[in-house]
Amino acid sequence: MAAIFLFGPSLCSAQSPSRPPGYAGSDTCQVCHEDIAKAFQKNPHHVVETGAKPAWKGMACESCHGPGGKHAESADAAAIVNPSKQPAAKTDQICLKCHLNQPTHAGRIRSSHVKDQVSCTSCHAIHQGPDKLRPTRADDINRKCASCHNSVWAQFQRPYKHRLPEGAMSCTDCHNPHGSFLARSVRTVAANEPSCLRCHSDLRGPFAFEHAPVRLEGCTTCHEPHGSANPRMLTRHEVRFLCLECHSNIAAGSALGGVPPAIHDLRSPRFRNCTICHVKIHGSNVDAYLER
Ligand code: HEC
Ligand code: HEC
Ligand code: HEC
Ligand code: HEC
Ligand code: HEC
Ligand code: HEC
Ligand code: HEC
Ligand code: HEC
Ligand code: HEC
Ligand code: HEC
Repeated sequence: MAAIFLFGPSLCSAQSPSRPPGYAGSDTCQVCHEDIAKAFQKNPHHVVETGAKPAWKGMACESCHGPGGKHAESADAAAIVNPSKQPAAKTDQICLKCHLNQPTHAGRIRSSHVKDQVSCTSCHAIHQGPDKLRPTRADDINRKCASCHNSVWAQFQRPYKHRLPEGAMSCTDCHNPHGSFLARSVRTVAANEPSCLRCHSDLRGPFAFEHAPVRLEGCTTCHEPHGSANPRMLTRHEVRFLCLECHSNIAAGSALGGVPPAIHDLRSPRFRNCTICHVKIHGSNVDAYLER
């Protein structure tokens, strides 16, 4: 590309390097947008200006804003592209020109955020400093996500939850905002496992005796990842109700798992707390009944 540009027709003043037609060069933008141009020197995108993407050397502003020759002459806002005023799909195209092949975006095509709704600039502001360009503090990320997902944020105010409100963790510990190969943009760790196992690695297995739903149906069959009124973030307020959803032939439909044998006197308080005996509820290496 660079070679083509080198032989392209020259624009503007004699001392400016040759550029493709219609482009003005960042030096020209600087004349009127002094503050932005000055701050831009500390922007990670400044490497574009100095040649990281050779085709855009000396034209970093226009790598996002498009050819600015006409605008530079008229100072007419309608003659220049403001990426965040474009339809989302258009904005994404501008950014993905350079960012498409990064691993983080491998799954973006599948994400709801890409369905022409939520563009790159909904989460990344270019000219407002490093924290707004790429939020890294958990608080900043959570605030950004919560600004649209306020019902999800409300769930994190429940008694049993991950410590997001305290800023100890963020939405992106579990989700890849750019999309994922798992449903709901759930971030993956090794071998496409859900992100839960990055932190709860003791539950990864493989176990000699697995509890079938842990692997087959996933953590959210029994846990509410965004917080719960129930201890251990369970989906039911008593453990036994959860178990009996699958381990009972009285429950609606047929039993998914085995029915507890006769020794289980379910009227006796002793048998109500299933996990007192079935301690290794996520899988065991020694006991088929998950007791050890
Ligand atoms: C001659 C002065 C001048 C030059 C040179 C100039 N601009 Fe502007 N630009 C302006 C003014 C004035 C406005 C505000 C227009 C308005 O609000 O009506 C503006 C607005 C903008 C906007 C906002 C448009 C919008 O719709 O929100 C962008 C983006 C922009 N300029 C980018 C550039 C870029 C990139 C360059 C270099 C290629 C450049 N400008 C060169 C004067 C200039
Ligand atoms: C990486 C892409 C990118 C680059 C590079 C870039 N801009 Fe922007 N610019 C944007 C986006 C996106 C907006 C919309 C506001 C925002 O998200 O920060 C914007 C907004 C603006 C505005 C409108 C005022 C405002 O703050 O909303 C002006 C003026 C502007 N840019 C000028 C420039 C100039 C001058 C350069 C080069 C020194 C430049 N931009 C480089 C993406 C870029
Ligand atoms: C002309 C190529 C180019 C375009 C267009 C471009 N970027 Fe970048 N971007 C880069 C380069 C180069 C870097 C810095 C090196 C790196 O981290 O890869 C970067 C870095 C970033 C970063 C990381 C900043 C950090 O602190 O690590 C974000 C976020 C980002 N760009 C978002 C955007 C968004 C949003 C757009 C569209 C409005 C955009 N970029 C358009 C080339 C580009
Ligand atoms: C829903 C919000 C959201 C959207 C939409 C979004 N990002 Fe991000 N992006 C983030 C967050 C949050 C981070 C920081 C993630 C972290 O550090 O865990 C990030 C990180 C990045 C980084 C830094 C490097 C990396 O891989 O982590 C780049 C580059 C980037 N985004 C580019 C883009 C581009 C390009 C688009 C549009 C195609 C986009 N993002 C859309 C939220 C978003
Ligand atoms: C500008 C508003 C906006 C922001 C900011 C935003 N989202 Fe979204 N998000 C949406 C919309 C719109 C959808 C699609 C909703 C739907 O399909 O019902 C969505 C969907 C999702 C989904 C479901 C995705 C899927 O693939 O099914 C997840 C997970 C998600 N967002 C997480 C996040 C995270 C994490 C952040 C912060 C990094 C964030 N969002 C920031 C608007 C936003
Ligand atoms: C502990 C991990 C974890 C954290 C932290 C987390 N999520 Fe989720 N989220 C999940 C899982 C797992 C699902 C999929 C649930 C399912 O399959 O039913 C999900 C589903 C979603 C969905 C789609 C379904 C729905 O409930 O609307 C959205 C949107 C979402 N999360 C947004 C967020 C936002 C925003 C944050 C931060 C405030 C966040 N999540 C924090 C694990 C997490
Ligand atoms: C970034 C690390 C991290 C990720 C990712 C993560 N967790 Fe956690 N989880 C924790 C920490 C730390 C605790 C301890 C509780 C606290 O912070 O108060 C915890 C607590 C829990 C608890 C409650 C334990 C108790 O004793 O009450 C459950 C259940 C849980 N996580 C399930 C999940 C599920 C399901 C996922 C995936 C959807 C997940 N976690 C993802 C770090 C993580
Ligand atoms: C079949 C239902 C079920 C599934 C599926 C399940 N859990 Fe649990 N989990 C439980 C029960 C019940 C408890 C509470 C045990 C107790 O009462 O002590 C628990 C407790 C926990 C705890 C807190 C104490 C401990 O044992 O470490 C964490 C963390 C946890 N689960 C994470 C996960 C993760 C991560 C997944 C997915 C890999 C998952 N769970 C899948 C039922 C389940
Ligand atoms: C989502 C459905 C589901 C839930 C909820 C569930 N289980 Fe299971 N469980 C199964 C399935 C399926 C098997 C495998 C049955 C088989 O292989 O025949 C199983 C196996 C078991 C086993 C091993 C013995 C056997 O039959 O293989 C025990 C013990 C067990 N579950 C106890 C529990 C307890 C205690 C709870 C509540 C904390 C619980 N289960 C919650 C579906 C579930
Ligand atoms: C006092 C300890 C104890 C409690 C409490 C307990 N179990 Fe058991 N459970 C056992 C023992 C011991 C076995 C193995 C029985 C055998 O050897 O046949 C067993 C076996 C099972 C099996 C395997 C059935 C099969 O043969 O496939 C299931 C399912 C089961 N229990 C579910 C539950 C459920 C659900 C609860 C709570 C309502 C519960 N258990 C409470 C001790 C207990």
